[in-house]
Amino acid sequence: CGIVGYIGKRDSQNILLEGLKKLEYRGYDSAGLAIHTSSGLELRKSKGRISELENRLEAQPLAGSAGIGHTRWATHGKPSDANSHPHTDNDMKISVVHNGIIENHLQLKEELELCGYQFISETDTEVISHLIAHHYEGDLTEAVRKAVSQVRGAYAIAVLSEHEPDKLVAVRWASPLIIGVGEGENFIGSDIPAILEHTRNVYILNDGEMAVLTREGVKLMTLEGNFIAKQLFRIDWDLMVAEKNGFDSFMLKEIHDQPRAYEDTMRGRIEARSTIVLPGIELSEVQIRGLKQIHMVACGTAYHAALVGKTVIERLTRIPVEVDLASEYRYRMPVIRKNTLVIAVSQSGETADTLAAMREAKQWGARVMAITNVIGSSVAREADDCLFTLAGPEIAVASTKAYSSQLIAFYLLGIFMAQSLETLDQATQIELITMLERLPAQVEDMLKGNMEAVRQIAEQIAGHNHLFFIGRGLDYSLAMEASLKLKEISYLHSEAYAAGELKHGSLALVEDGTPVIALATQELLLEKTVSNIKEVKARGAYVIAFALEGNTELEKTADQVIYVPRTFSLFTPALAVVPLQLLAYYTASIRGNDVDKPRNLAKSVTVE
Ligand code: G6P
Repeated sequence: CGIVGYIGKRDSQNILLEGLKKLEYRGYDSAGLAIHTSSGLELRKSKGRISELENRLEAQPLAGSAGIGHTRWATHGKPSDANSHPHTDNDMKISVVHNGIIENHLQLKEELELCGYQFISETDTEVISHLIAHHYEGDLTEAVRKAVSQVRGAYAIAVLSEHEPDKLVAVRWASPLIIGVGEGENFIGSDIPAILEHTRNVYILNDGEMAVLTREGVKLMTLEGNFIAKQLFRIDWDLMVAEKNGFDSFMLKEIHDQPRAYEDTMRGRIEARSTIVLPGIELSEVQIRGLKQIHMVACGTAYHAALVGKTVIERLTRIPVEVDLASEYRYRMPVIRKNTLVIAVSQSGETADTLAAMREAKQWGARVMAITNVIGSSVAREADDCLFTLAGPEIAVASTKAYSSQLIAFYLLGIFMAQSLETLDQATQIELITMLERLPAQVEDMLKGNMEAVRQIAEQIAGHNHLFFIGRGLDYSLAMEASLKLKEISYLHSEAYAAGELKHGSLALVEDGTPVIALATQELLLEKTVSNIKEVKARGAYVIAFALEGNTELEKTADQVIYVPRTFSLFTPALAVVPLQLLAYYTASIRGNDVDKPRNLAKSVTVE
């Protein structure tokens, strides 16, 4: 998850360690260094905190002026010393650190094993070190270039080799990487904070670009080997801003991370644009066909993702799904029959209530599947099947990209199960997958588009004491998440209601000017929702509607309308959630709250 590299005249160990510490805020589960010393390439790595790596280095220091370092957030293979980076070839001549995901690593691994290469870790990264060794014929840059040409996926890589110890090679494809330029020394970083202490002059690599660093200078080239000239970029941010990638809060950064989070969660799981493959799920086709019911358990935001998940799974598979708050599940004596699958949804994988619900389900003989963002977490370890969201570490307490990546996981799972059940015809399946693959670009466009309208709405609601979110079907599930997001960080009292239910009691709270945010993105329910909007309007509510692009007739009923791009109806929450997250963010900022650390709340709750 974090990369740092140094080549210069100073001792590299502490420069690398300090660089890694500056990336600590991003979250990680292990760390490691490779340094070229007088006795060749040497590595130190350790599962756990950087301080553990430091202890190892204290006992056995590494002296040398060229090195690479890494903090890992597991994506393939649990957190362990062996899975920590750097990885090397079998001769220990080439060391590699890598961020990202190699989609075709299993196939490459098979091929490399046939050539006699031995793998000692469970990571996708290790294929890169063997591939470079395989292609090395006296030119490291060339070997790296040949290796990455065989690799599919996302990568930011830094390479240090004993063959050519006076250089570092760096490559970028779909995972950020920068090169810091100093005097008599040069740096590699996955993020600006890693090198900011030493230089403010950087080259920002684009996809398909590589850099060769020596003590004297930096050469930039394309993957085809053509040299390129690039403008040096001068960083005038301070460290705090740099940690947030230029955004004023982690929450805003994480909202903007979503296109990448969606891509990573789908990466390697869609084959030939027509089939879903989920390697972490061992549930067989026969077992899927035998499923009588699914229970989902989760807390907080993950519970709201599960509510969307219920609709998705039921619609695509026709298997009945029940969703429970994890803290309620174990005490209500759930009816777990043979062939019940229980899906635990948890960003952190450590929530005590979710774990307890899972254990309860296992005790009654259910098969348990985890949808989680943390490989090696308790939920992941205890589950029979795992579907990982690859949102990357989430720092802000209010969950954004983890929630939306959970939705992507449910879409993948729904189509995956439908394949076994044959509930979708081939043409529909391909159409769904095509629309799924379009989501990252659609989110990107929304974020680039004019979100000023959302900020203005935030200005309007920031001064109110309470408000409502209403919606039907998936819009109701999304309303619950939007409302939670807003109250978590803005401290406004907000309630989410099924649009048709408001009139059975809570309508009494609507008075002149009460803001009502009406989600109306489900075309089939639009007319009914419009009637509910009229009901609240008649009681004086100020209505802000979220509608699909083109449904301009809503402007006649609602006071304001925010438009959401069109996609398959089940996928709409993965788009509509973005302006709703921003609404919460803007409202909280306007009210002067600490957006990332709301009062009374914790990111991960490990007590029941
Ligand atoms: C805490 C967090 C919430 C989160 C919930 C479940 O309460 O503040 O944002 O949704 O835990 O966390 P999990 O890690 O299990 O998804």
